[in-house]
Amino acid sequence: MIGFTGQAVVITGAGGGLGRAYALEIARRGGMVVVNDLGGSTRGGEGETSSSFADKVVAEILAAGGQAVANYDTVATPEGGRAIIECALDHFGRIDAVIANAGNMRFGDFEDLTFDDLNALLAVHVGGSWNVAHAAWPHLKRQGYGRIVFTTSSGGTLGNASLAAYGAAKGGVMGLMHNLAEAGAPHGILCNAIMPNAMSRMTMEIKPGELGENPWSAAMPQYFDPAYTAGLGAYLASSACTTHHGIYSMLGGRLGRAFIGVCHGHAQDAPMDAETIAANWVAINDHAAGYGVPANNTDEFRIVAELRGVEV
Ligand code: NAI
Repeated sequence: MIGFTGQAVVITGAGGGLGRAYALEIARRGGMVVVNDLGGSTRGGEGETSSSFADKVVAEILAAGGQAVANYDTVATPEGGRAIIECALDHFGRIDAVIANAGNMRFGDFEDLTFDDLNALLAVHVGGSWNVAHAAWPHLKRQGYGRIVFTTSSGGTLGNASLAAYGAAKGGVMGLMHNLAEAGAPHGILCNAIMPNAMSRMTMEIKPGELGENPWSAAMPQYFDPAYTAGLGAYLASSACTTHHGIYSMLGGRLGRAFIGVCHGHAQDAPMDAETIAANWVAINDHAAGYGVPANNTDEFRIVAELRGVEV
């Protein structure tokens, strides 16, 4: 059994939805869990906050015989990020893994979304992931072990007409994950990201059709229970996971890695003018003719050098 005995795991936004599912699963497997949740509105940055979100999940874990502590700090400030990690150190004396899951949501037509909307989302998704990872980093580095699980979204990796602000933030989280995967691996800190699809407060507040057609979740709601994603959070946060740089899409009971590939395309030994590009547009876009999946940004040089028969 993949276990967390003796390990402390911080889960942000764990007062409901996916974060709660990760918290229950990791606690069930022996982990000491910091259940962080600010307890605010789905939009974030406005209205009352409540400690009841985190408290309820801690009560569930304690009732089941697990170990957990509640934390109500915001992920959106460096001070909040530090307080969340300090909570793990104060209560459990250590920190082994972080699931950066806290999130807020604003959507709509691009012309109706404001710069304030963008900043509210960047602060929680990108800033929040940055703040908890940054605060945990020196501890993980010192012990030569850590797992950081980020939360991206198909809005950030694939796109949706109504998610310009949210997608920009979730795309930022993907970039943060890829870069910390590089920085962390030499120190035993492995970073991956979850690309979930689940029914939660956030998604249930979206009316049918507001983000386009989504026939699966209506027809087969059982596959969109956060419990379907709980095992993935536990796996990526555990020592059993030995890979990094991955984005894992859970949708309708299917789990698969999403990746960035670059088509072999068209290559030549002279600058490509616009006409040559137009003439080769089909080949440039044809992934069926072959593509590479660079492991990081320097790996793309290796792939192209190999394709072009150049020694590097
Ligand atoms: P949720 O709304 O149930 O959970 C998010 C939690 O984060 C809430 O309990 C909220 O109080 C907390 N939170 C918000 N701002 C915070 C802050 N500044 N500090 C601390 N906690 C804060 O929604 P869900 O769906 O469980 O979302 C979890 C993560 O998954 C989010 O990052 C979301 O963007 C992402 N996601 C969810 C998808 C889905 O289909 N449910 C799809 C793609 C991504």
